[in-house]
Parts: sequence; C-alpha cells; structure tokens
Amino acid sequence: MTKIESLLKDERIFYPPQEGKDLAYIKSRYQYDKIYDYSLKDPDGFWTERAKELITWFRYWDRTCYWDFNKAEIRFFEGGKLNASYNCLDRHLLNPHVKNKAAIIWQGEHDRDLRVYTYQMLHDEVCRFANILKSLGVKKGDRVVIYMPTMPEVIAAMLACARIGAIHVVVYGGLSAEALKSRILDAGAKILITADGTYSGGRRINLLNNAETAIAQCECIEKYIVINRFGEEITLSDKRGLLFDELIKNKEFEKYCPCEEMDAEDILFILYTSGSTGKPKGIYHTTGGYLVYAAHTTQWVFDLRPEDIIWRPGAVGWITFHTYVVYSPLALGATVFIYDGLPDYPNPGRWWELVDRFKVTILYLTPTNIRAFMKEREDWPAKYDLSTLRILGTVGEPINPEVWIWYHKNVGKGRIPVVDTWWQTETGGHLISPLPYTIPQKPGSVTLPLPGIEPVIFRDDGTSADINESGHLCIKGAWPGIARGLWGDSEKFKEIYFSRFPGYYFTGDQARVDEDGYFWIMGRLDDVISVSGYLIRTSELESVFVAHSAVAEAAVVGMPHEIKGEVIYAYIVLKDGFQPSEELKKNLIQHITKEIGPLVIPEVIQFVNDLPKTRSGKIMRRILRKVAAGVYDDLGDKSTLANPDVVEKIIQGRKEIF
Ligand code: WT7
Repeated sequence: MTKIESLLKDERIFYPPQEGKDLAYIKSRYQYDKIYDYSLKDPDGFWTERAKELITWFRYWDRTCYWDFNKAEIRFFEGGKLNASYNCLDRHLLNPHVKNKAAIIWQGEHDRDLRVYTYQMLHDEVCRFANILKSLGVKKGDRVVIYMPTMPEVIAAMLACARIGAIHVVVYGGLSAEALKSRILDAGAKILITADGTYSGGRRINLLNNAETAIAQCECIEKYIVINRFGEEITLSDKRGLLFDELIKNKEFEKYCPCEEMDAEDILFILYTSGSTGKPKGIYHTTGGYLVYAAHTTQWVFDLRPEDIIWRPGAVGWITFHTYVVYSPLALGATVFIYDGLPDYPNPGRWWELVDRFKVTILYLTPTNIRAFMKEREDWPAKYDLSTLRILGTVGEPINPEVWIWYHKNVGKGRIPVVDTWWQTETGGHLISPLPYTIPQKPGSVTLPLPGIEPVIFRDDGTSADINESGHLCIKGAWPGIARGLWGDSEKFKEIYFSRFPGYYFTGDQARVDEDGYFWIMGRLDDVISVSGYLIRTSELESVFVAHSAVAEAAVVGMPHEIKGEVIYAYIVLKDGFQPSEELKKNLIQHITKEIGPLVIPEVIQFVNDLPKTRSGKIMRRILRKVAAGVYDDLGDKSTLANPDVVEKIIQGRKEIF
C-alpha cells in the first residue's frame, strides 16, 4: 500500500449503536451475510419476495429476472402489472393509520410558505392534475417535462404522470433556457409544467422567462401549464400557455382519476444526468423494477419506517429526489420534508433549525453540503435540538474521512449511524452502502454491497484486481433498479455501460476493496492524474488538503507538463478567518510533503472563493482542468453549473499567477 492509501485508510472505526438496533429491519452482520448469500444464489426467489412484500401488484409477473448484458437487455417482473401512483397513494388510503398522516411537508424560504399534504390530500391533488393532463390529450407514453422549483406540485405532477402512464422528465429549475430546450427536444415532450419563479436568498428568481424562451424553439410542446408561486398576476407570452389557477376552476377535474395499468417494463421517467462529463444523457427507468428497488433500498439502508420524516435537501432534477424523496418514502407510507431555499438564508443555522422544527429523523446530505457547514458554520448545529435524527446519509462523491467524522460528531452527536451510499443515476438506487445497524464503519468507505449486488474490480486488461489494488468498478449481473436505456440511443447505452468489460455493468468509477471486503470509491476514471507515471487519485489528495486546518474545500486537477506528463494544480477554498498568502502556500506544501511525500507536491496552488459545481454538488473538473491548462474559451457546456459566475473569477485568478 502506498503512503497516501494508508493515510486514507483511516484507522478509526465506528461501531453501530445498540440503541435502535432491535427495531431495525436488518439487525446484524450475521443476518446481512445470510441474506446476501441467498440473494446471489437465488435472485429469482430473493426479488420475488421483496417485490411482493413492498409493492402492490395488479397482476403478478411471469418471469422475475432476465438480462443479457451483451445485448444491453434487462427486464424484471415481466408481465407484471402495477401503477406507481397507486403504490404511493391509493393503497395507503385503505390504511387508517396512513390515510390522514402527512405525506409531504413543504417549507418555502419564507416561514409563511408552509404547506402540509396528507396522503388523502395528495391523492386528490394528483387526481386533479392527472385529469388536467388527460384533458390536454396526454396519453400513456407521452413525455411531460417538469421545470420547477422545489414545490409540492412537482411531486403531484410526477405522480399524475405516473398515474396516467405518461413519462415525466424533471428538469431542475436552475438550468438555463438553452439546457431546458435541448432536453425538451431530445425527449420530444408534448407538455411543459412550470412555475412563475421562486425565491432564493431573498431574491426572486424568474423561471417563466426561461421556460418561454425555451419553448419558443420547441414545436413539439403543445401546451404549457404555469403554477403560481408568487401569488401575483401572471402574463403569458405564448398562446400555448395555461394558468394552473384557471384550470382548477373546472370542478370536473376534481373527480377520481383511475390508475392506468402499467406493465412492469413500461417507462416511468427519463432523467438527464448532471452532465459533469459533457453532453447530457437521457437515462430512463421502468416502473416495476425501479419501484421495487427504490422501496427495497430505502427500507434497508435508511431503515425507513412509516413514522419517519426523511429530508434530502437539493435539486428536484436529480435521481436522489426521484428515488429517496418521491417514490420510496411515499411507497412506504412515510413523511417527506421538502424545502425550497438556501442552507444559509436567512442565517447559517437554517437547515438545522428546520431539522429541529419539523423533527426530521433521516437526513441525507452530500459531502459538499457538509463541507460548506464546516467552512463557516461549525458551531451552528450545536444551537439546535437535533435529537430526532436517527440516521444520517451521504451521497454524490467520495466523502473525506475528516468530513465524515465531523458529520457523525456534530450532527449525529456521535450516537447515530452514517450511511455513505454509493450509486448512480443509472443504478436507480443504492448499490454499495452500509446497512446502518449491521457493521462497523470506516469513514471514507462505502463498505459492503447490498444484497443482490455483486461488485467486482477489474484491471485494465480485465483480470481481477488484488486486495487494495484499485481498478474499474463493475457489477456482475443485473438488479431491478438498473436503467433500461438511453432515450433514443440504444447503441450508445450498450457502448457506454456494457462494452468495456463484456458481461458486466461498467460504472466508470475507480475503486478498491480492502482486506475486510470494504469498498473505497476513488471517483471517476478521469479523476486520476499521472505525474511522472505515478497515478494520483484526485479525491485522495483532496482529502489530505481538507485535513489541513485552514482548508475548507480543495479541487485537484492535472496540468499538462512537458517533462512530467502532468503536474498537480490545486484549487483551494479557505475556511473563514484564513487569508491567502505565500506563507500559507508553503505551509500547505509542507503539510502535503509530511502526509504523503514530495512526489505529489502541487506545482500550482490557486486560492479561490468558490469552486464551479453542478447542481448536484459535483465539482466540474472538466472546467478546472481547462483553466489549469490555460484554456479560457471553449469550456464546454456550462448550463448545469450552479454558480457560473465563479468561472470568470477563477480565470482571473489564474492569469494573476502566470
Ligand atoms: C457518481 C454518480 C447517486 C446519486 C447522485 C449522483 C459518485 C455517488 C458516491 C459515494 C463516492 C460517489 C460516483 C458515481 N458517487 N455516490 N457515496 N462515494 N462517490 O448521481 O450524477 O449519476 O453520479 O457519483 O462517481 O459514479 P450521478
């Protein structure tokens, strides 16, 4: 093992708490092992049991699992009939304990914007929405784009589509008109649902302008529906526009809307990926397998019970929102909390205040979220009562051990489990993650595969990597939640995911397995820098930077170098109270030398105020690599950036160095 690896192989081990264990769905390592073995020996039996236990079917299936990765063909529960909206709503109305409880609690940026929907209310709202869509001619298989801020209507619209068999395509409201247009056209959508705008940090954000600019160039859009968020009069600039408030005056729409019987393999939704690596791809998931897998992972990984309130802050146009905010908590009859606002407005304690006020029990953040709290708001969690929390989750990128420990200690008060969940838009739900009460945790490791999942690590040549040797993370065999294709491009689906190592699903991530069988995700293949032939994983080096007391965030990329091939270029965000200086640069270099050795000393350190990130919190290394190389134009698609302004500042900063 290299020194950097041993440094990252943090020796601190955290044992699962005794408290809560008795009630947990999966209580021990022994139980996990037994289920895991069974799931691989008899996938048909395993998935049949899970599918029957978790989901209500109108008709059972003829065949449980089928896949042929060489043809990129995957089918689960073939011949089975169900409806996702029925599973999230109607079936709960038959249960007196669920019918009148909160399904959604929504808080807007202003405290006065607070709405609660019971299951019954949400059901009625979804029927009304579905009737409206039907009246506009939407039929099974049609695509409906939803371009909105985080509001209950997003969920109602998604479930309304699912109810009538339409395919929803949720596009995050922060994306530009151009990005929206390309997604509408690629999906060939008939209807767009949008809102006038929302508030962000006290400012008004207009969405309608973007929506109307986009559809001006989209002939496929027949109608667009505008939801009123501001409570003011709305002027529509296009004759295809309809106001939601006008539509709902029609009492006819309040009638019950029956659920379409969907085949398990009918498409439920298309989702365009965050695009940190180039052109967005329209990944689609189908109804049966996706829903089973969503409910299954939520029940075991978050140990979700009906009395829980789960909160995953963040964009609606993300798979996390689909799986762990909408479909699985509602399918399992729990309560979801959704919030439309920034973490630090009106003050840096906002999110903790919400956990406190709404008694959130399961909180699911990204390492980027947590680092932002560490940067300037370290003492804020302590001001609130976070004692209702019982499970913490993290997702999206490798978590630095320091960050994991901070989260565990300051938010979890050292008493509750942290689940580091590894998965992808394409996987539909978690694949590798601790089940919270079963195993000791090593900060930074995503630990063990979930039942039914068999990950393998390959070297470039397709042979298996040794223990602690990093390589390509692939998955042997399919699971119900795996994507079924790329919208309009089945060849590309095969090429991207199933051709690199025939017979295996190719994740594109680098990972290693340690001597205890624990998985460590290193990041994407392109997150590797080669200095004089020595491979350095950016996430590892970044973790070492973040362990320095002055550093809040770090992004490391390769800069082309005539002799060494590449050298290390580090972008550093300092914690509040630290000023950039030559002195500090020297200090950081000493730190790196001490922790890892002279080989990985960065050639350039640039202090920045912020890093360019996608809406899902991923650092856009593609842009940072170009800027490091001195390429300032041709930076590629910036439409998915959450903070496009920082790019210009970073370019200025680089020019000052060279
Ligand atoms: C990529 C997928 C999964 C929903 C959110 C992102 C990285 C995800 C982890 C984790 C290390 C992680 C991987 C993966 N990633 N979770 N717990 N530890 N890396 O969805 O945009 O499809 O991105 O995110 O690189 O391939 P996505």
